[in-house]
Amino acid sequence: SQNRTYKIAVIAGDGIGKEVVPEGLKVLRRAQEKFGFTLEIEEFDFASAEYWQGHGQMLPDDWFELLKPFDAIYFGAVGWPSVVPDHVSLWGSLLQFRRSFDQYVNLRPVKLMPGVKSPLADRKPGEVDFWVVRENTEGEYSEVGGKMFEGTDREVVIQETVMSRTGVDRILKFAFDLAQTREKKHLTSATKSNGIAITMPYWDQRVEEMAQNYPEIDVDKFHIDILTANFVLHPDWFDVVVASNLFGDILSDLGPACTGTIGIVPSANINPERNFPSLFEPVHGSAPDIAGRGIANPIGQIWCGSMMLDHLGERDAAAAVLAAIESTLAAGEYLTGDLGGTATTAELGTAIAEALSR
Ligand code: NAI
Ligand code: MG
Repeated sequence: SQNRTYKIAVIAGDGIGKEVVPEGLKVLRRAQEKFGFTLEIEEFDFASAEYWQGHGQMLPDDWFELLKPFDAIYFGAVGWPSVVPDHVSLWGSLLQFRRSFDQYVNLRPVKLMPGVKSPLADRKPGEVDFWVVRENTEGEYSEVGGKMFEGTDREVVIQETVMSRTGVDRILKFAFDLAQTREKKHLTSATKSNGIAITMPYWDQRVEEMAQNYPEIDVDKFHIDILTANFVLHPDWFDVVVASNLFGDILSDLGPACTGTIGIVPSANINPERNFPSLFEPVHGSAPDIAGRGIANPIGQIWCGSMMLDHLGERDAAAAVLAAIESTLAAGEYLTGDLGGTATTAELGTAIAEALSR
């Protein structure tokens, strides 16, 4: 939108989603005042256990038409297992969005923040700062396969990995484009071409092909086994890491785990062509164990807002929100319990909004 007006669908969902989303919106509204763009925000109550109780389904029948016109979906968390089984809530909502809106990029930062205790010894903020780019639609998570001779001694199960040229090339292009925007201009590909001898050599070949278009980018690759070890041993080696669906699933949990608490990590499910809205959500879930007490860490949700602003083209605002999170963490005055403090969700959210105004 050249006029810098963006339509945002807000879905808080369940549990702490309802507590952290208002803090995310608090910071987004402050960013809009400061940077002069407009967010047209519309809130929806579906994709929640309450909606399911009232309607017998997670989403209204017309959810696709309803959400498609939005520029982005700002999502909290879905899941309340005492009311709705988790596979029902997840397949009935989030996974529908990811598939129908062709959000083929899953993007997560791995960034050590000040004031957050990392399980990696002696690492300082600044040393660990990279992105994991996961292919989100094909690869190892396919529906191609089947069972034969079920229940007999001859029982056979097969599930095929599916890699299409379109699917591989588009995730690689996104990752190379991202690397291009970074200072280090370094891309690492996750492979396993020694063991998985058909699809992974193909992946490697597409990486080499794509690299031709990006001569400034320094490209390397690791087999997935040693790559996971290097995430822990040498996290400073990475800048942008691109991986297939399964490898990316593992790396995108391992990476953020190396940087501390689950409460601060954001993620994005992106449709880079912008044919459909992209979705921004914290990595954590609805946390029934702490929900309703106002003590959840809102930073994952607030950081999602920064990623969303970046996607919308509001780069300065995105960087300022991230800087406000960093300075608030460094000050250490308003931290939630998971970070060793006693602040409430709203106090930490307000502190970040105030830092943004300064
Ligand atoms: P969870 O992420 O909700 O909680 C795991 C642990 O981390 C809990 O002890 C929780 O208190 C803590 N935690 C999470 N977020 C926190 C925050 N912001 N501040 C402080 N502590 C935080 O994962 P869990 O317990 O496995 O799942 C709970 C529900 O959430 C389930 O219904 C699950 O299906 C759903 N879920 C939804 C996701 C989504 O919407 N994308 C992602 C993960 C789980
Ligand atoms: Mg996962």
